[in-house]
Amino acid sequence: MYKTIIIKNNIDTCINEITSNINNLAENGSLFCIVKTQYKDGIVDKDFMDLIDYGTSLELCYINTIVIPDDTEMLDNVLYCVWFTKDKKSYYFNKDFIREKSIWKDVEWGKREKNYNSKGKDPGNVWIPTEDDGKANITNHILLSKNEILDRLLSTTLLENDKYLLINDENIDYKFNNYNCDFKFISNNYSDIYFGKLDSESMLDDYNGKVVFGTSENMNKIEDNTVDMIVTSPPYWDLKNYYKENQIGQESYEVYSNRMYSVWEQCFNKLKDNGSIWININIRTRNGNPILLPRLFVEQCNKIGFKYRGISIWHKSSGIPTSARNLSDHHEYILIFTKSDNSKIDINRFEQYCDYKNDKISHKLFWNINRKAGSVGKNTIHPAIFPTELINRINIVSTNKGDMVVDPFLGSGTSLIASLNNCRNFIGYEYNEGFKELMNNRFETEIINYKNNKIDYIIQ
Ligand SMILES: C[S@@+](CC[C@H](N)C(=O)[O-])C[C@H]1O[C@@H](n2cnc3c(N)ncnc32)[C@H](O)[C@@H]1O
Repeated sequence: MYKTIIIKNNIDTCINEITSNINNLAENGSLFCIVKTQYKDGIVDKDFMDLIDYGTSLELCYINTIVIPDDTEMLDNVLYCVWFTKDKKSYYFNKDFIREKSIWKDVEWGKREKNYNSKGKDPGNVWIPTEDDGKANITNHILLSKNEILDRLLSTTLLENDKYLLINDENIDYKFNNYNCDFKFISNNYSDIYFGKLDSESMLDDYNGKVVFGTSENMNKIEDNTVDMIVTSPPYWDLKNYYKENQIGQESYEVYSNRMYSVWEQCFNKLKDNGSIWININIRTRNGNPILLPRLFVEQCNKIGFKYRGISIWHKSSGIPTSARNLSDHHEYILIFTKSDNSKIDINRFEQYCDYKNDKISHKLFWNINRKAGSVGKNTIHPAIFPTELINRINIVSTNKGDMVVDPFLGSGTSLIASLNNCRNFIGYEYNEGFKELMNNRFETEIINYKNNKIDYIIQ
């Protein structure tokens, strides 16, 4: 029996090897699949969520997905490490081996001493360790080597005398301490994400913002084929309450799914042929089972006719704690779709984003953007506000000045602010008109040229 099984390969090989080896995994063991998104003709063919789906169909328990930057020249530098166990109650995991020292002690934990752990920071599910200058300033983001990644997975899951299986896409001479192991080499090639190119920026026309209070299941205030880009974070199913009856998210999963389908269908109709849609969503768990909303949306958008182009990782420095035997949650997904093969998203515009003190990690699909302190949670006026910088970026890489941007779930108005500040026109739908005052306050203080901007409010 293997206490730990690690398969690093393409998704089909992982699926085959899970099938062959599932009976050799110890009851309290862990199985990790390290994969990249697979592309075919510029479209996503398979991604890590196919693996989650497959593993859970075999009754493996899904624990987490760790994202790790890959040392590659490709734009897609995301390694997804999907983690399963056989038995959620008994699996062994000791995170002490991968803690980092708490550089934030005086800064972050200063007023919350009870959160300070002398063993080190609670490790998260984005593996980019940091070095600092002793004064809470990060001086280096570390790109882990392939062997260091393996070391981390094995040190946290093996005990003395345990045995592991490594199925690798590189024929390397790797051994973890003196542990017993079996090794198998299966070669594999990886493909890269592909986008088109934007024309150079046109001169600025007049631009304005519009807020429609109503449901985005029917966006009849927007003409078909007129929108350049849609960006949104939809309501989760059965999660947060945004306080209005009949809003999306409070109904059965089936009804939720049907209502979301209508919204994506509307989005497809409103987009121009070369337009794109960016959907921010995460995998949450309910009673220990994953709710794969990102996968639901991928399936729905594919069915409607969108082309699924890839995922950008929104990496958040502050994480949401999970259980003692899990990693805290430090990332969300941005699913990227285009209406046709002829997309306006421009690969060259990713170049300017330098979030990491390591050029081998920056400029690609990892975006390290933090929310303003105090902007999330039950005690805020809106519980799930986007960071404006995230939408600034999506605007820059996918549209030009004067283009039309839409958000079907506007919430507190972040995407309107970002779009107007970047000289884009904007229309947002929000079901709860109770957010109008919050929006107004934000618009007044956060829109750079507020006095010259015209913002209309419409009730549907
Ligand atoms: C995750 S929040 C969006 C937060 C937003 N990104 C921000 O920065 O504030 C989802 C929003 O969808 C809204 N919503 C729920 N059902 C809706 C519907 N049928 N049509 C439009 N908006 C809806 C909720 O009121 C909530 O404000």
